[in-house]
Amino acid sequence: GAQFVTPMTLAARSEAEVYTSLWDLKNETEMGHIQLSREADLIVVCPATADLMAKMAAGIADDLATTLLLATDTQVMAVPAMNVRMWDHAATQRNVSQLRDDGVIVLDPDEGPMACGEYGEGRLPEPDAIFAEIEHWLGSSTQDRAHPLAGKHVVITAGPTREPIDPVRYIANRSSGRQGYAIAGALARLGANVSLISGPVALETPRGVNRIDVETALGMEAAVDAALPADVAILVAAVADWRAEASPRKIKKGETGGPPDLNLIENPDILAGLSRSDKRPELLIGFAAETDKVVGHAKAKLDRKGCDWIIANDVSGDVMGGAENSVHIITEAGVESWEQMPKSDVARKLAERIADVLA
Ligand code: CTP
Repeated sequence: GAQFVTPMTLAARSEAEVYTSLWDLKNETEMGHIQLSREADLIVVCPATADLMAKMAAGIADDLATTLLLATDTQVMAVPAMNVRMWDHAATQRNVSQLRDDGVIVLDPDEGPMACGEYGEGRLPEPDAIFAEIEHWLGSSTQDRAHPLAGKHVVITAGPTREPIDPVRYIANRSSGRQGYAIAGALARLGANVSLISGPVALETPRGVNRIDVETALGMEAAVDAALPADVAILVAAVADWRAEASPRKIKKGETGGPPDLNLIENPDILAGLSRSDKRPELLIGFAAETDKVVGHAKAKLDRKGCDWIIANDVSGDVMGGAENSVHIITEAGVESWEQMPKSDVARKLAERIADVLA
């Protein structure tokens, strides 16, 4: 940066001191980098290059800027600017997603002609737009801007359920729980008190989330009921529609004279039950996993289950267990389709939408 615009020019224009080196001893005695990182209301990284964001995402601190960013407890806003290919690169997208998970505000770059002659996404947003984002952030109170969902209780179900056939066998499905866990984490970061009712999954509990483990649909239904009342419920779990009449003993191959009769019994519909109950949360959100006629089936579910929103996802590819999702948000007002994105981005956008609606 100092090769494009000299520190002297910036100091003169801003009438402020410009810091450039971690090893500037005069500054280290007057004001250490730790202090520098703490006294701001907001730290804006502009332009945020692919390299700098990679360092931020990895927690590298090898110069003044990166050390300050690692040492701070202040909100950070990054304003990306880079070549379109660098922006589109999987590594950069992964880093942006990680930074957003870490609570950094990463603005979307503009699209247009670039300094290098190429065209695409990656341009630094216009100064007025950046300024508006900063003003917006500084304009709301500390409490509102960091934790818009403070004081709100959200119940989330996630993962599959496991319906026993006998002590060693069960019926389950391919749900990994990743989308539900990402939503739980995103809501907790916005200050919500989150109860995550989880089927058996191989995932870490997101920070700040209260996790309740269950196995079966009946167990999940009871845990949801026990967690109420809530302001919002989001039922992401892939609940088994049927359970078997479980045998207390292991079913032996020779005993049944052919395949055993599982005597399937329909499980209660937790979402539909909740929408009819007198403990119905103010905002009730269901998911719909579909392989065909995604929006059509999901719309029918919105009516049938009586929830406020249905998030429909197409699970015909490798969505179940995968890292990305492409969803449609279906409400009374209509259908909004989001492009395919990492599950963590779906979670963040959804959490922000919920915060907006409750506000
Ligand atoms: N759901 C629930 N309890 C059930 C079944 C589903 O709470 N017993 C919830 C899911 O968590 C999800 C929504 O209902 O939010 C839709 O789930 P889905 O499996 O897509 O719907 P089903 O009603 O099972 O319909 P179908 O199997 O016919 O697609």
